[in-house]
Amino acid sequence: MCGIVGAVAQRDITPILLEGLRRLEYRGYDSAGVAVLTSAQQLLRVRAVGKVAELEKALQATPAVGHLGIAHTRWATHGKPAEHNAHPHLSAGLAVVHNGIIENHAPLRKKLIDLGYVFTSETDTEVVAHLLAHHYSQSQDMLGAFRATLNDIHGAYALAVIHESEPNTLYCSRMGSPLVIGEGSGERYLASDPLALLQVTDRFRYLEEGDYARISLDSCDVWDRDEQQVDRPITRYEHAAHSLDKGEYRHFMLKEIFEQPQAIRDTIAGTLGDDHVLTAILGPDAETRLVDIANIHIVACGTSYHAGLVARYWIEAQAGIPCQVEVASEYRYRTVVVPKDTLLITISQSGETADTLAALRYAKDQGYLATLAICNVAGSSLVREADWRLLTHAGPEIGVASTKAFTTQLVALLWLTTALAQARGQQEFVARNVNALRGLPAMIEQVLTLEPAITELAQRFANKHHALFLGRGTHYPIAMEGALKLKEISYIHAEAYAAGELKHGPLALVDDDMPVVSVAPSDSLLEKLKSNLEEVRARGGQLINFACETIEPTSDSSIQTISLPWVEDCISPVLYTLPLQLLSYHVALVKGTDVDKPRNLAKSVTVE
Ligand code: AGP
Repeated sequence: MCGIVGAVAQRDITPILLEGLRRLEYRGYDSAGVAVLTSAQQLLRVRAVGKVAELEKALQATPAVGHLGIAHTRWATHGKPAEHNAHPHLSAGLAVVHNGIIENHAPLRKKLIDLGYVFTSETDTEVVAHLLAHHYSQSQDMLGAFRATLNDIHGAYALAVIHESEPNTLYCSRMGSPLVIGEGSGERYLASDPLALLQVTDRFRYLEEGDYARISLDSCDVWDRDEQQVDRPITRYEHAAHSLDKGEYRHFMLKEIFEQPQAIRDTIAGTLGDDHVLTAILGPDAETRLVDIANIHIVACGTSYHAGLVARYWIEAQAGIPCQVEVASEYRYRTVVVPKDTLLITISQSGETADTLAALRYAKDQGYLATLAICNVAGSSLVREADWRLLTHAGPEIGVASTKAFTTQLVALLWLTTALAQARGQQEFVARNVNALRGLPAMIEQVLTLEPAITELAQRFANKHHALFLGRGTHYPIAMEGALKLKEISYIHAEAYAAGELKHGPLALVDDDMPVVSVAPSDSLLEKLKSNLEEVRARGGQLINFACETIEPTSDSSIQTISLPWVEDCISPVLYTLPLQLLSYHVALVKGTDVDKPRNLAKSVTVE
């Protein structure tokens, strides 16, 4: 989605802005732009459709040098991807960049046209630029004009503004879209994602919902939505030490798949005792209240939702607590019935997904016992707004397709299940889970050695347009995740079914042109799954089996089997995720798609 970078310094800030945009490229965008205040105190704007590299080329033709500037990558919502719609938008000596959607842009646009303002784009953002110019023309006071503009607009936004009359000042605000202020030595920055600024600082102030700020070389003033001046403390960014390069890998996705053993080690570090889990890490009062939890609701989107679906099986089987799981975009708009003593869990890699965040805010008024965020970004909105937090330590995930974020979410959820089982005296599960978690990183290393066999297998998908994924029990959501991975990066239409559902409809699709991928660990449902696979085989389906090594391989040439080591049931969903990630990656290579930035998708979905 859109990205914002801004800087004020005593040196040329254009290289900082460009590097910031490059670091935000992974989020998905279609055009980019920059506005810099030149030494002649004039705004110079340069914009380009396409990659940041195109903007760089445009800047070679029109160099922009200055000490104050803002920059943006746009992901079109209002108005097609085109240079005239790219940000920054200008009006009477000021420049604005914006993430989010101004919901009342239509009446404001009409009002501004009546006042004589001329629009040069179809965007909702240009309304903000003209509105601000209008308020400024009446008061000659930028702070007051900015405040008045914020009062006029409704919707979701992160905004950054510069004005020719204030050569050392950035203005910014956030409501529903993330924004951080970076503290450098003798210079300051802002960005929609701290990753954009790790090139210059690891110290950030996180703005709260409704905050607005005036940032200069020597001061940083922040006001809350009630217009009270507030102190937003500086915190150090946790993942600063992680490398943001692809290193030896061809794509970030592949690098992130191979980082999973370490990501899981980092996620469980400090959470396990000898044969129990350490519950103090959950946050104030959580430890004592685990025992009170009578029900659980889990809300998330996409891959994070799949993690929640796996957890439901664990939580109900091991802790005996009823658990329901729902996608955030549905949950947030319906009337929910919340039984007494229900814990709400939100799961998110980014902690900024608009629907998940809105679901958490909606839940706050529904009488939950507490809210818990499972998240990979310590300073994110989700983490800051939940009562309790459980951080995954996957490190920054750049590939749009979620890989290490998912498996670390599963690990965090298994840890949580263990804590709940422990609180309820279900000791039989506790020691087993703890042992399994300890051994998991090494098992993953072993499974990653299957890559050459999976690379070969991927060729089978070269000319396919559809695929089915089948699983049972905890491996049904893993099949769903496998199908999502395949469709998002290879553009092959893929659907997942609980294997028992096959003969209730989808079996009609099976013929010799349909690859059917099955996730077949050696668990109590294996025999049932085998019968389902026979149904596929009888119809000439091309079966690809990810199965436990203890299962006798078949000599049937229509079945391709990849064997995985035997593991405890509880960690099996984590392990079986890996070959599916590798399969989708290698199919995408065969198809020649843009693996890390698949078409139409954004890494962090900060609008509805
Ligand atoms: C999965 O590969 C996707 N990138 C997507 O489904 C993602 O999991 C979803 O948008 C939720 O994101 P979050 O975990 O950051 O909230």
